[in-house]
Amino acid sequence: MVNENFEPKIVGFCCNWCSYRAADLAGTARIKYSPNVRVLRVMCSGRVDPSFVMKALASGADGVLIAGCHPGECHYIEQNYKAMRRYSILKHTLRAMGVEPDRVRLVWASAAEGQQLAEAIDLLVADVRKLGPLKWPGNWTENGQREEALETLLKEHEEAFEVLT
Ligand code: FES
Repeated sequence: MVNENFEPKIVGFCCNWCSYRAADLAGTARIKYSPNVRVLRVMCSGRVDPSFVMKALASGADGVLIAGCHPGECHYIEQNYKAMRRYSILKHTLRAMGVEPDRVRLVWASAAEGQQLAEAIDLLVADVRKLGPLKWPGNWTENGQREEALETLLKEHEEAFEVLT
């Protein structure tokens, strides 16, 4: 059941060259979007280390938006492709930890796409509202399964590295 009174806290990592400007454009063009997102400017979506997302969620965010330049338009050649790869690993990691992967979303928005960014924000906020509060810090200590899942995941990655080296 959707709790209409729940206001999700969303952290938005926005690329300086496109989506941050799109957010600016949305503001100057008076395009309305949910005020739930706290925008953080990064130089590129490829700068968003998965640990930033984990830290945001562990610090109380209910969802995270990563917004960057369209594929082929990254100002750092192909760092947004790196963001795509990291995003899929991140989704896998969250799932393994028992966190709904839909809480994290990667979107593309050029500097001219204020409307599209606003719609993407509204959609994420609506989806996270349906999921309810994450309450990660509380759940982490209550639910030992997540800790166990994280340890299993780390072990899997260690083993994968051993195979590669
Ligand atoms: S510079 Fe915008 S995603 Fe890389």
